[in-house]
Amino acid sequence: MARVTVRSFERGDLDAAAGLLAEKHRADRERHPVLTEALEDTDEARSMLAKWFDNERTDGAVAVDGDTLAGYAIGERAAGAPPDSYMGQLSTPRSVSIGSRDHAVAAGYDANAVCRMLYRHLAAGWVASGYYAHTVNIAAGDERLQEAWFNLGFGRHVSVAVREGTGPVAGADAADVEVRAAGSEDVGELLELARTLGLHHLDSPMFMYWPVQAEHDGLARTFFSGLLEDEGNPHYVAYREGEAVGLTSFLKQGFIPPYINSEKNVYLFMGIVEPEAQDGGVGRALLDHGMAWAREEGYERCTLHVLSANYSGEPFWFANGFEPVEYSLERHIDERVAWARGG
Ligand SMILES: CC(C)(COP(=O)(O)OP(=O)(O)OC[C@H]1O[C@@H](n2cnc3c(N)ncnc32)[C@H](O)[C@@H]1OP(=O)(O)O)[C@@H](O)C(=O)NCCC(=O)NCCS
Repeated sequence: MARVTVRSFERGDLDAAAGLLAEKHRADRERHPVLTEALEDTDEARSMLAKWFDNERTDGAVAVDGDTLAGYAIGERAAGAPPDSYMGQLSTPRSVSIGSRDHAVAAGYDANAVCRMLYRHLAAGWVASGYYAHTVNIAAGDERLQEAWFNLGFGRHVSVAVREGTGPVAGADAADVEVRAAGSEDVGELLELARTLGLHHLDSPMFMYWPVQAEHDGLARTFFSGLLEDEGNPHYVAYREGEAVGLTSFLKQGFIPPYINSEKNVYLFMGIVEPEAQDGGVGRALLDHGMAWAREEGYERCTLHVLSANYSGEPFWFANGFEPVEYSLERHIDERVAWARGG
């Protein structure tokens, strides 16, 4: 098989890269009709890539075999300190991310070899500039690219999962649970439940950073009070014997990734049941309540993020109709490489 050479992405590569992207998007969309149609069109794909190319926060590379484009990858750097907001705390400072539409390998090429050379080129610059946290996103079911990135030390971290349909949740019959929509007077209960969710994510084996310390209380209160003022973002609280034991909340302007169709698609932001009440039907009752609201509002699907390591969340969502559409794979570089060569 031809050995490819790698260099930086140039404007003259846009046409060929757009061709690869449109072809990959068509294949991914056959598996996941929820992907937006636009990128099946080469012109649309080109204009999306051109925006990335002109963005000063991105770095791109191409693998070429003579005049043929064998692959490309473009990553975006997030440099600064995260914004001083509740959600801003969840992002990793100085990280880079390659979006699921921002890399492709042409048919007939060894994806392991092409991705390795593309990543070699890009990561050299990133690590030299102190970017040690690397993410690459792939469409679920793209075994070829998944294998190529696994082969580079990336591991699956997050799933973006979509529930097609907002029908009732099977087995949602917890008789002793009352579910009510939260109002601004309930912000204290929401903060408690969000803190429980944060502690869960900080715990083994997720080990995901979450702002739960007292110094973050102000940020959390500002964030949740703001959400409660907007009717399009309902928060449903489950009560058992008068005690708040669980929460499901939705965001109409959620975190649905680009190129997943956000039309009639509601984002499920938080789902949490207090540990002592888990596994007793509260989660299903909450989801069922949320889906009834979504149906009434005309939503036809629901999207969320869940960590692969989440031992209770992942099985719960996947058992209740959510299916992975996209995965985030992560690799953290050993910082000692910065000084290991000596002076
Ligand atoms: C996910 C969660 C909201 C589900 O609520 P719940 O009240 O526990 O769920 P229910 O009792 O209605 O449903 C039980 C189902 O949840 C899943 N589940 C709940 N706890 C589980 C555990 N400890 N291990 C494995 N599966 C678990 C299973 O799919 C289970 O079905 P099964 O009994 O047929 O295996 C709850 O477990 C939770 O708060 N987990 C921690 C926070 C979290 O991960 N939230 C989601 C973030 S994306």
